[in-house]
Amino acid sequence: MVRLTEQGIVDKIKEKQEPRHISEDFVMHKLAEYRRTHPKVSSLEDVGAKDSALMIKRLRGECRQAFGMFFTRFAKRREKHLRTYLEDDSEENYVMLLKTHKSSKERIEIYLEIFDELFAITGKPASILDLGCGMNPLSFDLMGLSKVKYEAWDISLGDLEFISKFFESREGVDFSFKEVDLLELKSSEIEFPDVDVCFMFKLLDHLDLGKDHKLSEKLIKSVNAKWVVVSFSAKTLSNKPMNHPQRGWFELMCKRLGYKVECIQKVGEIFYVVKK
Ligand SMILES: C[S@@+](CC[C@H](N)C(=O)[O-])C[C@H]1O[C@@H](n2cnc3c(N)ncnc32)[C@H](O)[C@@H]1O
Repeated sequence: MVRLTEQGIVDKIKEKQEPRHISEDFVMHKLAEYRRTHPKVSSLEDVGAKDSALMIKRLRGECRQAFGMFFTRFAKRREKHLRTYLEDDSEENYVMLLKTHKSSKERIEIYLEIFDELFAITGKPASILDLGCGMNPLSFDLMGLSKVKYEAWDISLGDLEFISKFFESREGVDFSFKEVDLLELKSSEIEFPDVDVCFMFKLLDHLDLGKDHKLSEKLIKSVNAKWVVVSFSAKTLSNKPMNHPQRGWFELMCKRLGYKVECIQKVGEIFYVVKK
């Protein structure tokens, strides 16, 4: 039997490379959820070694699913890639930087055209909220914006602090970030800023996790944005292009809520531009 503490468990989970940057609150939230559903660990005193190991393994898996799986092999050297790009903003150096996150890496081919197409619908925004931002804010240099208020929210404080270094040298950009667990929206309200455009790129599938879409719906309704741009992967788990990448549930939900939607389909990703 081992005697555990909540903090001890969180530290153990965050010991590994991938969950290290994840917010402590998120791990605590997952731990509380796990303990509620697994009576053997509901009290942390005298937990069997096997149950303790299983709990840590499962929780690491959940953290990885929410966050860690987006690291690429380039992520370990991201500080160096950022420094190199800030010294010499060549295309080659920029590509290396964008390759540090799986989602931005997959979007490299379409980044330039996608912002042109999105902003042709929404107009050039003066304020952006990027929810579950990953490394997408680093694509700012491709957005064709100069004076803008950019808020980046994600569950990973480490990522947000990294991104803020990129914005230190971007004149005209009022950048701020917030470490947030959007799952909290299930049980409480979150105060969102008023913005022109809110990005939710490849986020909703991670919040809903194949359950129902109640949280996605609450999130779309809650954000104070004139436009919301929601994207989903258009690839199968085996990385093949999906035959039908449209998300019927999302289109039906927008219709029910009376939101106007335009769809832009690209290789690997489908974007919905929603007018609230
Ligand atoms: C697939 S990545 C997409 C990143 C970025 N939006 C993009 O498309 O380039 C999903 C992102 O959502 C974030 N995320 C996952 N669960 C979250 C939660 N509960 N609250 C806030 N952010 C979350 C992850 O940290 C990750 O950065």
